[in-house]
This record gives sequence, C-alpha cells and structure tokens, in this order.
Amino acid sequence: MSTNDADDRDEHDEHGTHGRRDDRADGHARFPTETPAVVTCGLPYANGDLHVGHLRTYVGGDTFARALRTLGQEVAFVSGSDMHGTPVAVNAWQEGVSPEEFALRHHEKYEETFPRFDVDFDNYGHTRTDANVELTQAFVRTLDEEGYVYDEEIAVAWDPEEEQALPDRYVEGTCPYCGAHARGDECDEGCGRHLEPGEIEDPTSVVTGNPAEYRTRSHKFFRLSEFEEYLGEFIARLDGTSNARNQPREWIEGELKDWCITRDLDWGIPYPGEEELILYVWVDAPVEYVASTKEFAESSVGSDNAENDESTANAAGAGSAGEGFDWERAWAEDGELIHVIGRDIIQHHAVFWPAMLRGVGYNEPRAILASGFVNLDGKAFSTSRDRAVWADDYLAEGFDPDLYRYYVVTATGFQQDTDFSWDRFQQRVNSELVGALGNFVYRSLLFAHRTYEGTPDSELSTEVRERIEAAIEDFEESVNEYSVRAIGQAPVELAQFGNEYIQQAEPWKLVDDDPGRAAQVIRDCVQLVKAIGVLAAPVMPGTAARLWAQLGESGSIEDRGLDAALEAPPANFDAPPELFERIEDDRVAELNEDLQARIEESAANPDADAREGSHEESDTAAETDLEPLTEGRIGFEEFQDLDLRVGRIEHAEAIEGSDKLVRLEVDIGIETRQIVAGLKQLHDTDSLPDQKVVIVANMEKAELFGVESNGMVLAAGEEADLLTTHDDASPGTRVR
Ligand code: MSP
Ligand code: ZN
Repeated sequence: MSTNDADDRDEHDEHGTHGRRDDRADGHARFPTETPAVVTCGLPYANGDLHVGHLRTYVGGDTFARALRTLGQEVAFVSGSDMHGTPVAVNAWQEGVSPEEFALRHHEKYEETFPRFDVDFDNYGHTRTDANVELTQAFVRTLDEEGYVYDEEIAVAWDPEEEQALPDRYVEGTCPYCGAHARGDECDEGCGRHLEPGEIEDPTSVVTGNPAEYRTRSHKFFRLSEFEEYLGEFIARLDGTSNARNQPREWIEGELKDWCITRDLDWGIPYPGEEELILYVWVDAPVEYVASTKEFAESSVGSDNAENDESTANAAGAGSAGEGFDWERAWAEDGELIHVIGRDIIQHHAVFWPAMLRGVGYNEPRAILASGFVNLDGKAFSTSRDRAVWADDYLAEGFDPDLYRYYVVTATGFQQDTDFSWDRFQQRVNSELVGALGNFVYRSLLFAHRTYEGTPDSELSTEVRERIEAAIEDFEESVNEYSVRAIGQAPVELAQFGNEYIQQAEPWKLVDDDPGRAAQVIRDCVQLVKAIGVLAAPVMPGTAARLWAQLGESGSIEDRGLDAALEAPPANFDAPPELFERIEDDRVAELNEDLQARIEESAANPDADAREGSHEESDTAAETDLEPLTEGRIGFEEFQDLDLRVGRIEHAEAIEGSDKLVRLEVDIGIETRQIVAGLKQLHDTDSLPDQKVVIVANMEKAELFGVESNGMVLAAGEEADLLTTHDDASPGTRVR
C-alpha cells in the first residue's frame, strides 16, 4: 500500500460540502428549529449478539440526539428491533427454533443492552408491534391506491429438492454488477448494491446447497422509476455525511428499476388484502421509525397506562415522556427527520425510503448520517465465526460505557472505516480522558476545594469567558454540520486548554504572593470544569453526571442547555474522586491475547457458516482477502529504477484538517526529506520519531493538503505496518 496517496476527500465532506451553514443554502433552517426533530437509528436485526460495530450507529445517534437537545431542539430519539425477513428466518431455521421466539429473544436482549451503554431511546419498539403492522399496511394501501404498485410475474429462485422458494438470504451467488460473492438481495462483499429477486447469478440454495432453479410467481412492484426526478432533487437537498449523497447518485442516474416489495416467505407482515404475499422486510422496517415515534408520542397520554405498560413504550431507557410530541407533524408535515445508519444501508435510506415517504405524501428526511464500518484488522466482524468484540464482553470487563462511546465517536470522521484496537482504545483513554480531561477536572476541583472549600469568590476572566463562548459556538456549529466527531472532541479540547492555562498561571505559587490572582485563576478553572461537563454530556453522559455532582450542582445536567456552561458554579463542594481510571498495559496485553486467539481461530475455521449473522466477510477470510499475485514479471533493471533507501524518522506531526495524514521529516543520510504519509489513524504520531523506515526516494513529488511530499514511505496492509530494517543499516543505505 502506498501511504502518501491517502484519500482525504471524505473528511472535509463531513464538515459539509456546503461550507458553513449560516446561510443554509440547502434550505434547511439551523438547529434548534421551531419544528420537532426525530433522530432514528438503523434497526438492529433481531438475529444475533450486538458487537461494538453496531454500537457506532447507536452511540452516534444517541450522541447526536443529546447534542441537539443541548441546543434546545425538541427531539424524539427512536429505534426498534428488525424482526422480519430472511436475516431472522434463516438464522432461526439454523438454530431450529421458530422465527417468532428467536426474534423476540434477541429483541429483549437489545432492550437491556442499549441502556447499559447509555443509549437512551425515547421509544424502542419492534417491527411486529400492532403500531408497526397497522402503519405498514396503511402505507402500502396508500401506495396501492395512488397507483404506485402493480403485479408482475417474475422468476424467483427455487429449491427443487425442498420444493421451497428461496428469497433473499436463502440464496447465494454472484453479483451481476461487480462479480463479487453476494447474498440474494444484497452485494454485501462487493459493490454494496441491493439486488432484486432473480438478479443474482449462479444462485445456490442455502438450505440444501443445491443450485437453485427459477419458478414463475406473481409479485408486487413499487414504481420506483417514477420517483427518479424527485430523488435527484431530494439527494441534492439531503444533509448529513457526503457518502449518503454520493453513493446513491450512481444508482439514481443509472436506470432506476422498480422495486419488488413482496416475497414468498411465511415470516413477515402480509400484503394487505393478499395474505399469501409477505412484504419485503425493507418495507416494514423503516416504517418502524414512524411507528416508534408514534408510540413515544402516545406513551404518556392516559398516564396511568404508561406506568404499567413498561414492556412497550420507553422500555429501553429512561426516555422522557412523549406527551406533546407531535409525531404526525414531524413525519407528515415539517419535522426534521434525521437517520443515523451504517454505510451498508445507504441505498435503502436514500432511495427506497424517501420514495415511499413521497408516495404516501409524507415529509422527507432532512439528513442521513452514514457511518463507516468498525473492522478488525481491516476486515468486517463475523458473527458466526466469533470474530468480533461483543458489547457484552466489553461491559463484562467492567469498562465504563463512556470510554467506548468517546472512542468510537472520535476515532475517525464519522463516515470513515476504522479498525477496533484495544491498543488504540487504551492510548486514547489514557491520554485524552485520563490525561487531559480527568486530570484537569481533578486538579482544579481538588485545588479549589482545599484552598477555598469550593468556587473562590472572584470574577471570571475575560480570556476564559471568551474561550468558553468560542467552545459553545463551535459546538453549535458542529451540530449544524452533523459532525458527530467534533461534538465528541469538544470537551477534551476545552480540557486541553484548561491544562495549559493552569500550568502557565501556576496558581499554587500565587496563593501566598498574590492571593487575588490565585482566586481568579481557580475561579476560571472551576468554570472551565463546568463548561467541560456541559459539552461532555452528549458523548459521555455518565461522566458528565458525575462531574456535575462533584461540582455540587443539583438537578440533572441534561436538563440544562448550553447556557449552563457560563453560569456560576456552586460556592461549596467536596474533594473530588477521579473521573477515570488508567488502563494498564498488562490488561491490554490480556485483551489482545484473547482477541488475537479468537481471530486466529476464526481464520482457521473457514467452514463456519459465514452467512449467519448480518455483516461479514467472505468464507475464506485469510486466503481470499490477499490480492492475487501480479502476472507479468519485471527485469532486474526495472527494479533498479526504484531508489529505495533506509530512512530514520526525525519528526512527525499531524496535518491539520486531515484525518489521515502526517507530515514526516525523514533522514535519508544524504539529506532530510519531508514526506506526507497516511499514518495518523494507524500510528501514534509520538511513536514515529526514531523509527527506521524504507522509502522510495525517487517517487514523484506530490502535494497533499498543501504540504509537499518528497518521497514515499513503504508500509504493508490496511494497518500500515511500516517496513523497516532489523540490523545496523544506516539512513541512506540503498535497499536491493
Ligand atoms: N435491520 C437493518 C436496518 C433496518 S433500518 C430500517 C440492519 N440491521 S443490522 O443489524 O445489520 O445493522 C444495524 C446497524 O448497525 C446498521 O446501522 C448497520 O449499518 C450497523 N452496523 C452493523 N455492523 C457494523 C459495523 N461492523 N460497523 C459499523 N456499523 C455497523 O442493517
Ligand atoms: Zn456487487
């Protein structure tokens, strides 16, 4: 892999291709708006355990919903379990239980798990609730009445031995668009496209392993093609991450095919009036966003039943009562609809779903925030091969949920893929949470308590007031730019300022000589602590609540808006306990060992059924992910054209504005070269100096983020494993 051609396009896009949003060229009002907002998270399929990859959707959504509320925005935060379709039916069949029992078991598990990560949905329902069944059928009836549905005979995959239809995940084969191995309805390992029944090539039955045949059946089709023009305009208005606009463009601008919305399956919601046809799972799943909002809105109407009926409304999380939340206005009129999902389901949210909403005369999504994937060693998690870090295992380790929340939200720009690594988790926690945030809060409050029994009686300095005001403004801007990452970084950045401020002012030296100035500095620091708490609440709600209590504040930090950041802190508080605990090396060594053993076992077990669970890689993980060897041979002379040299990194620094790039100064004996390399996410910048590397010295010069790169550092694989020498080859030595 060449490390100097990192594609950084994604990340500035995340801050909006439209630049600053004051003018809102896209026609969307700034947050907080007068209208109600709904934030939704992609519904988890009720078919397996939750892993830390799934949590990117839920923690991202929760953080964003909380941040909106901090601005004073009215928000309903909803989701639910996706109970239907072949993702659930196939797995239940493999386990030998009924899909109903199987799905409910997982649903109940999810309901317990989300609050443990402080993902507090206002309502967490599922797609089999009466509310969703009724609403889905009403949607379909309207689409039918409006003339958007027609019948057509099509060839569907069929298992001749079992005499059974093979919809979606019951069949595997080859993607007709890119040639990758694919599922019946989704090219999950290749181009990511949705596949229509009959499209997959060389279909094989998952039930018997036999080649599938085709049978003619009559199905319902949604006239997606009629929405082509609308969808083009919709995409242009759509806010959120740029991948949600860019990916669908290709599909919309190509030929938009009508969408088959029924299946031959006995698990799902029947097509109204034609009970033998079951609706495709992607019809009833997004409707649950609406049904769940409706359940929330109705949860406190007739309040005594809300208290008794804990099994439905508000089950997963504290959730505020939804009385007064106008779900119909939000969905059918002018609310702000924001979908938080992973990048694998962009097409469903940016094409199918908006067309359905339009077809029934509803409102359209304002924004889609589509995250990159969380991977292990550059490859997707595999549920069936136990190649994952499970949400339960994380909690069983006793880690504070806020640590992972912070890590996953700030690891990279929201739409970039990222590798989960315990090392990086430890490093980020220890340096940013323990070292910067925890340390500043602790030293400030301890000093304040010991010297003044709380907040000293002094005025807030102009410098610190302005710094806090700037932090608040940035925060508001981050929310308006949908930058989940910047929302997460805000409290740590303010703490870093705080540490510099206290270090420079040295109040401990001033107490005797200049007590007035000492009191002023500590007054500033306590205010900074309070502001850090306010900014930390969306990403680390538990930590923020603890900090609030340490300050002697009453009530809940979540009920206070951004203004609280500048309100005076209580005059008295106790000595604080530490907010975070360091993660020690031996702990990480153990976690790594466990995870490595699991990864190796999964690689050594290619027979495991890779189709189980929802997001995984090809069956032969280790082998097929390697690039095939290049066919043509080169002569020695051609090799000699490469001027490869040993270098020693002298200096490394992150390039501002880029998520990936680092500016290096590399000593290559004859001279020192400035080289730009995409190492930021993969290496701790501080660990780079003194490392020996191999560089291509006669690489064409390039300019990246305005910085000239004079050479290329060699590295292997997605983790950018740096090539080096192991003996005494000194800088400048030629590599042959
Ligand atoms: N049921 C559908 C969504 C229906 S929405 C109307 C589904 N379910 S899922 O269980 O496969 O995924 C749930 C969420 O987790 C989705 O937003 C998905 O993109 C996300 N992720 C699942 N695995 C992931 C990673 N490894 N990394 C990041 N996000 C991932 O899709
Ligand atoms: Zn494909």
